[in-house]
Amino acid sequence: MARPRTPRKRTLYERQTVVDIEHTGHGIVKPEGKVIFVEDALPGEVVDVVVTRSRRNHAFGMVERHHLRSPQRVEPFCSHFGVCGGCRWQYLSYARQLEYKHSFVRSIMLRIGGLDDLEVLPILGCRQDRFYRNKLDFSFTDARWLSREEIAGGGDNLERRGAGFHVRGRFDRILDIDTCHLQPEPSNAIRRAVRDFTIAADHSYYNSRSHCGWLRSLVVRTSSEGQVMVTVVFGSAANEAQRERLFDMIESTFPSVVSINYIVNTTLNDSLAAHRVHRARGTDFVVERCGDLRLRIHPRSFYQTNPLQAERLYGLVEEWAALNGTQTVWDLYCGIGSIALFLARRAGLVWGVETVAEAIDNARENALGNGIGNVVFCVADVKDALCTPPPEALPSGADAPDLLVLDPPRAGLHPAVVKSILQLAAPRIIYVSCNPTTQARDVQMMSGDYRAVRCRPVDMFPHTHHIESVIELQLR
Ligand SMILES: C[S@@+](CC[C@H](N)C(=O)[O-])C[C@H]1O[C@@H](n2cnc3c(N)ncnc32)[C@H](O)[C@@H]1O
Repeated sequence: MARPRTPRKRTLYERQTVVDIEHTGHGIVKPEGKVIFVEDALPGEVVDVVVTRSRRNHAFGMVERHHLRSPQRVEPFCSHFGVCGGCRWQYLSYARQLEYKHSFVRSIMLRIGGLDDLEVLPILGCRQDRFYRNKLDFSFTDARWLSREEIAGGGDNLERRGAGFHVRGRFDRILDIDTCHLQPEPSNAIRRAVRDFTIAADHSYYNSRSHCGWLRSLVVRTSSEGQVMVTVVFGSAANEAQRERLFDMIESTFPSVVSINYIVNTTLNDSLAAHRVHRARGTDFVVERCGDLRLRIHPRSFYQTNPLQAERLYGLVEEWAALNGTQTVWDLYCGIGSIALFLARRAGLVWGVETVAEAIDNARENALGNGIGNVVFCVADVKDALCTPPPEALPSGADAPDLLVLDPPRAGLHPAVVKSILQLAAPRIIYVSCNPTTQARDVQMMSGDYRAVRCRPVDMFPHTHHIESVIELQLR
C-alpha cells in the first residue's frame, strides 16, 4: 500500500523588508542572513514571504501578504495578470521599469563584465508600451487552468480546452486567454476564432503529459504593413480534411491574413526549429516595414518582435557605426538582413552571416526588393564562417572588416567565436544583445584587446524584466 505523503514543511518569514530588486525582477529579502528572491515584491515593501524553492545559498519565495506597499505600484491593466506567465511587471509604472532596467544593465556590466568605467547612456524607452509585439505563440491544452471560482463551483462539466500562455511558473499548465495586450488585432480575434471553431468541431487539443492531441500551438505574426501570417502546429498529420476546413475558416474570416502555414510536430519537444513548414494558403512571408525598408519574413526567420523599437535600435547602430560610404561591415547573426540593409546605405560592402537558410533567402530578397546591391549574405554558423581561411561565400576584398556588428541569441557568443573575433582584430565592434548577462561575459573575455566605450540599454519588452543592450567596443 502506498504510504501517505508527509505534508511538506512550509517556511514562512514574516514582516520582511524588501531591500533590493535584481535583474530578473525579483525583490530581495534577507531574513536570518539568507537571500530570498521574491516575486511581486518591490524595494521598501514589507511582506510575509513563503519559500517556494530552496537552494544551498539562496531561495525563491512568494509574497503571502503585503504589510506595506510601495508607492511605485500601479494597477495592472490585464485581467489575466497574476496567473499568466507574461508581462509580470505590470504592477510597476513604465517609467520605473525603465529606471530599474537601466540600473540592472549598469550593475551587470560592473559585476560580470568588470566594466567600472563604462558609460551607460540613458535607456531608450518605448513610445508604445502595449500592443508592441509582432509575433505571439499560443499553446493549446485539453486541461486549461481553472480559476478559484471555477473550482469552487465544482469544476464539473466545464470546457477544459483552451488556448493561451503558460501559467506563471508552470511549464505544464496553460491559461486560456481572452484578451492579450501584447499584439495588435486581429491577434486576439484569430486565436478566439481558431479555438471556437475547433471546439465546435470537437477536435482534440494537446495534452502536455500524454503528448496526445491534434491541435498543439498557433503562431500569429502581424506586420506594420497590416499583413498577418498564421502558422498552426499540429500534434499529428491526421485529419487532413479538417485541417483544410480550419484554414478555409481563417482565410474567409480574416482578409488581412496573407499567409497560412502549418507544422506537424510529433516530438515531445515544443521547439519548431527542426520541423518542415508547409505552406497552406497565400505567400510564405509577410512584409514588415522598417524605416524606408520593406522586409520579407518567413515563418522560420527571426525578426525583432518589437518593430517600432527595432527601427530605433537599428538607428542607434547606424549612428554609432558612423560610416562614410567606404567601410566593410560584417553583420554576424544577421537574420533577414535587417541591420545589414540598414547600414548598407552608408557602407562600402556588408557581409551578413546567419544559420537559418530561409532567413538568408529573405535577406537576399530584401536586398533585391530594396534596391541594395552592396550586401552579400551567407548561410553558415558564425563559428564556422569566422574560421580561416574565409569561406568562398566571403566576397573578395571583404576579409578585413572595419566594423563587426554582433547580434547573437540569448546564449551570447561561443568561445570559439570570441577567439576568432580576437584574431580578426577589426578596429570596432557594435555588440547588440537581448541578454546583458552573456553580453557582459563576452565583453569581459575580449577586454584584453577591446575597450568598451559606451553602452545603451534599449527597451524592446515593456512590462517584462527583459532588456536589450548595445555596446561599442574599440580595438586597444
Ligand atoms: C537575436 S537574432 C538577430 C537577428 C537580426 N540581427 C535582427 O535584428 O533581426 C539572432 C539570429 O542569429 C541566428 N543564429 C543563431 N545561432 C547562430 C549561429 N551559430 N550562427 C549564425 N547565426 C545564428 C538566429 O537564427 C537569429 O536569426
